[in-house]
Amino acid sequence: MKNLIISFAVTALLISCGGSDDKKAETAEKTETVVEDLSKNPDYQKGLELIGGSDCLTCHKVDETLTGPSYRDVANKYASAGDTIVAHLAGKIINGGKGVWGEVYMTPHAGMSQEDAESMVKYILLLKNK
Ligand code: HEC
Repeated sequence: MKNLIISFAVTALLISCGGSDDKKAETAEKTETVVEDLSKNPDYQKGLELIGGSDCLTCHKVDETLTGPSYRDVANKYASAGDTIVAHLAGKIINGGKGVWGEVYMTPHAGMSQEDAESMVKYILLLKNK
């Protein structure tokens, strides 16, 4: 009998605020899909592959500060930066530099194309915390 009352109450609750709850559930589902599908994102795959083939990982890790900042920190720092940030950071990878995260210098990657560097940046920026 107790169970019956509870299930009545739950049903009534669901009916009374069904509309807005549906929308909330939908949004939550969408966010989850984005997180799950990150590894299927072509920008993610391409950037990761290029980074794996270069020397980046000797100084950077996704979640740990090494010689350079963690990629997650970089992504969070620029999460709300505009579109030009991709080209800017790509230029920094190619030309090297210091002063944003500390006094340690990032070595230049002079032979790298702007396009490849931008692919790497796109991957890095995808790592931001939600
Ligand atoms: C010799 C070590 C080293 C290597 C190799 C290296 N980095 Fe860095 N990276 C750094 C340091 C140190 C910084 C912080 C520079 C600063 O404070 O301005 C940095 C910063 C960055 C930033 C943020 C720049 C900013 O202005 O906020 C990005 C993006 C980046 N690195 C990507 C890469 C990629 C991609 C590669 C591989 C192609 C790479 N790094 C290779 C040391 C390195």
